[in-house]
Amino acid sequence: MTQFDPSVFQTDLSTMLVRPRRGRTSPWMRDMVAEVDLSPRDLILPVFVRESPSQARETSMKGVVRYTVAELAEVAQEAQALGIPAIALFPVIDPSRRSEDADYARTDELACEAIAAIKAAQANIGVITDVAIDRYTSHGQDGLVRDGRILNDESVAILAEMALAHARAGADVVAPSDMMDGRVGAIRRTLDGAGYQHVSILSYTAKYASQFYGPFRDAVRSSAGLSKGPGPDGKKTYFLDVRNREEAIREARLDEQEGADILMVKPGGPFLDVILTLSQNSHLPIFAYQVSGEYAMLQMAAEAGWANYEGLLLETLLSFKRAGAKGIFTYGALDAAQVLVKR
Ligand code: PBG
Repeated sequence: MTQFDPSVFQTDLSTMLVRPRRGRTSPWMRDMVAEVDLSPRDLILPVFVRESPSQARETSMKGVVRYTVAELAEVAQEAQALGIPAIALFPVIDPSRRSEDADYARTDELACEAIAAIKAAQANIGVITDVAIDRYTSHGQDGLVRDGRILNDESVAILAEMALAHARAGADVVAPSDMMDGRVGAIRRTLDGAGYQHVSILSYTAKYASQFYGPFRDAVRSSAGLSKGPGPDGKKTYFLDVRNREEAIREARLDEQEGADILMVKPGGPFLDVILTLSQNSHLPIFAYQVSGEYAMLQMAAEAGWANYEGLLLETLLSFKRAGAKGIFTYGALDAAQVLVKR
């Protein structure tokens, strides 16, 4: 049998002074030296809102439902009581309201009703709206389409109108998630021109052409339309290419110049390097979105018995913090907050 020979190591164990394990000896020590922490204050709860009680409540994601407007006050109060600072609204409208010109987006009535309901409940929680027309176009693209091409400037005009409708209804933060060029500046000017200087813009600065949005598109039923028109590849003409990181910095520069208040990276988990890069390259708060596909993977791993859902959730959310994210959109916000307030 071969004897352990310490001379093969550079470190002579008998004279070793540095022992990193001392920092991990006990729970209080680990807490004391931990580099980041997770709090309910870091979490934003995305909620799906349905038009009528006759529409399906369950989504394909475990634990994620479509609420009616009437249920929102209670959800907002629950989130606020747990310390979650804001709710992000995602309306699910009937496909009959979709059209080539996305006309419904100009008024976005369901979103506006939802905003008003939460504001009327005086829940003391921020309301963030999604500014994007993919739910309202018959082809599911985030822009208007002509001759197979996605039109930038015409789409920006609708986005600005949509953001203004949200602001009028009482939204605190509007969040363009479409990636058209110049939309942040156009929205800022439109809001300011109408007296809504106090409404913030959370820009999806680095939204990638990702495969992780499937369960969301299911939940808002925007995938059906994608079989028409330019199709899923059309999204690659505006969302960022998954191979790129520098491009995210260029987008961040533009959003800063155009008046964005918060920058978002989406999806979060597969793009932690981008979160880190932006947090080192911008002085604006960086947020991340743990998107539907990421969340669904955690749930499915737990369902298969491979891991514990809450454990996976907290670990992934902490990773966002470690990478430099200040805020995290996650479908697990209520679950995570419940665990965190008990600690
Ligand atoms: C709308 C929008 C999408 C998501 C947030 N806003 C879908 C998309 O771009 O297809 C995805 C969020 C998720 O997957 O959880 N543009």
